[in-house]
Amino acid sequence: MSRKSASAFAPGRVNLIGEHTDYNQGLALPFAIAAGVTVRAKATDEKRILARALDCDEQDEFALSEPTGMTGRRTGMTGWRAYVRGVIVELGRAGHSLVGGELEIGGNLQQGAGLSSSAALEVALCLALLALAGETGTDRIELAKLCSRVESEWAGAHTGTLDQLASLYGTSGMAMRIDFQTFEIESVPLRLEDGWRLVTLDSGERHENASSAYNQRRAECSRACELLGIDSLREASWSAVERLPQPLGRRARHVLSENERVQESVAALKKGDLSAVGRLLNASHASLRDQYEVSTPAVERTVERLLGAGAAGARIVGGGFGGQVLGLFAPGFHIPEGAREVHASPGAHVLDPQTIR
Ligand code: GLA
Repeated sequence: MSRKSASAFAPGRVNLIGEHTDYNQGLALPFAIAAGVTVRAKATDEKRILARALDCDEQDEFALSEPTGMTGRRTGMTGWRAYVRGVIVELGRAGHSLVGGELEIGGNLQQGAGLSSSAALEVALCLALLALAGETGTDRIELAKLCSRVESEWAGAHTGTLDQLASLYGTSGMAMRIDFQTFEIESVPLRLEDGWRLVTLDSGERHENASSAYNQRRAECSRACELLGIDSLREASWSAVERLPQPLGRRARHVLSENERVQESVAALKKGDLSAVGRLLNASHASLRDQYEVSTPAVERTVERLLGAGAAGARIVGGGFGGQVLGLFAPGFHIPEGAREVHASPGAHVLDPQTIR
């Protein structure tokens, strides 16, 4: 039965390691963070959604149904509107019956910072709209795939499902090892004891997956697979990768080595060997900079600041070309000014009506 009001919160994420592996059916080890997006919804009798984005103080109206075949670029909608439109249409296409309502979108997650503000928006919208329609218990893997379709069809960024899965499956104190071939998710305790800290530091450079070379990297990986006659780089062998022309060989080398680093990081976390995790973060960054070529001078300066302050490891997070840099600090070091501590936090959830204003 539909409800009078419903609200949902979805967090952003930090990917500890395993970058640009999701759309290559590889492995990653993200965790949800405390900051995120909240969508508050109130039911109305009308067949439309009225949404207000609090941070930019804008609002718009969206029909509950859309002519079939319509995609994001054809509607001409951009920014937050493209996500709202995309979520409404994709939920409808997947067979969910939505009800009309008024939405308020707010939150405390920096946009364009590599912390998955757009995935948090999609996931919070889905959970709030489904809860308003009285639907609970929707399969979260399917929701992650649906949100990823919103990214590619409506926002133009051909991303994988890393961000959405991290937001949907976050657990306090846990990172999650995701296998993107089987969609198996294993919780891995992220024990930062005795004063170890994970921090993010802003490179000051905003990034957007739709307009950066992100889509180009994804196309390069598809081309590499075509040349190798395989469906995904997960199936590639080291010897085959060495025969690829450049830059495809470098891209594939990053993906294969990054999958190995995820496995090694899981093993290091299980042993409580955070120094080893630090070395793996550094190796991941070097590979993202030199093989995958998604770093920038501003990101390099930020990595240097963290390492200069004594970080055991530092690396770019997310799609690349700007955004935040992750640093891991052993006890006793002063974190640089502007760096913020991050903690593995609970995943997306419908908020208890008591907590709704
Ligand atoms: C962005 C995308 C994800 C993933 C990362 C890189 O965050 O949204 O799907 O590809 O980049 O690991």
